[in-house]
Amino acid sequence: MPVTKDQILNSLRVVQDPDLHQDIVALGFVRDVKVDSTGKVDVTICLTTPACPVKEQLKTQAEEAIRCVPGVTGVNVTMTAEVRSARPDANKTPIEGVRNIIAVGSGKGGVGKSTTAVNLAIALGKMGARTGILDADIYGPNVPGMLGIHGRPKVIDARIVPMSAHGITAMSMGFMIDGDTPLVWRGPMLHGVLKQLLQEVRWGALDYLIIDLPPGTGDVQLSLSQTVPVTGAVIVTTPQNVALQDARRAVAMFQKVNVPILGMIENMSYFLCPKCSHREEIFDNAGGENAASKLNVPFLGRLPLDTAIRKSMDQGRPVAVDDGEFGKIYVELAQRVAQQVSLINSDSKRPISVVKGP
Ligand SMILES: Nc1ncnc2c1ncn2[C@@H]1O[C@H](COP(=O)(O)OP(=O)(O)OP(=O)(O)O)[C@@H](O)[C@H]1O
Ligand SMILES: [Mg+2]
Repeated sequence: MPVTKDQILNSLRVVQDPDLHQDIVALGFVRDVKVDSTGKVDVTICLTTPACPVKEQLKTQAEEAIRCVPGVTGVNVTMTAEVRSARPDANKTPIEGVRNIIAVGSGKGGVGKSTTAVNLAIALGKMGARTGILDADIYGPNVPGMLGIHGRPKVIDARIVPMSAHGITAMSMGFMIDGDTPLVWRGPMLHGVLKQLLQEVRWGALDYLIIDLPPGTGDVQLSLSQTVPVTGAVIVTTPQNVALQDARRAVAMFQKVNVPILGMIENMSYFLCPKCSHREEIFDNAGGENAASKLNVPFLGRLPLDTAIRKSMDQGRPVAVDDGEFGKIYVELAQRVAQQVSLINSDSKRPISVVKGP
């Protein structure tokens, strides 16, 4: 008896998506089942993000399940992904071609928002997601320097073409002005500038547009959440009390304007002495993780305070570009962010699990 497509589909019902708590057939992830006359099977599994943290696990489980079907002589499983768009919001205008807008904020200044936003964007790009970054810090734009981008963007048909580096596209007020010019915006002007950066830039097709926010819970944050549909916000904090108070305020602000919290990242979490390997908890221990758990938002992970991270940003080649120790941490963080985005965009009503950090 030749193997049928239905047999293959049925066999795949044992493979569960651990976040969505449903099998991959019911979720509609299984595409293109092909069985040839010799029993060789080809299957494509289409996930909700190329940055899926359990991609390899699902692939192996699918291969094993298919191999158990009598008559199967060979298995080839191809993993692809199609990122879902944020749910439409009648009161907000989506950015053409952009599927998800992810804000990175903190409340407090200098905790590493821009560093985190830039590295997360690069890590998502590295995993195959079409990613852009918008520097919404229109008073003190740092993204151009961190990405090592010089020069001015082109304007085609009255729309700005974003710059690109390290596999992502980027737009910043920093591209439009000369290095040290101070930028002073009054309220209505600020709203206009932000709107232009969002809507009058040719972002093209993007799975994720990361927004690097200025510090605080002020006009830019409000303006952003009121004009475009933001899928969710990532809150960056350092572990000490004063930073955590501000992080809690940032969480409360986003929740008030109905922007879901994708999770918290604890930056500058500890310092590992390069000479004696002593671990010094400069800003206290696990503050971010404890705060996330108290606020009932996912904890996405932590980054140490390390000279290599600072240097990489100053040199315009962020650590996430390479696959070293910190590059790997940013890939894991980006996977958790993408996972939370997928959960929010699915119809799953289940609670988002709190991820334990490394
Ligand atoms: N984990 C880290 N280890 C070492 N240096 C870091 C780390 N994270 C950020 N930095 C450095 O700390 C400084 C501040 O970081 P960054 O500019 O990303 O903070 P920010 O929160 O965006 O600041 P602002 O509120 O001014 O926008 C930068 O010099 C950056 O390179
Ligand atoms: Mg910044």
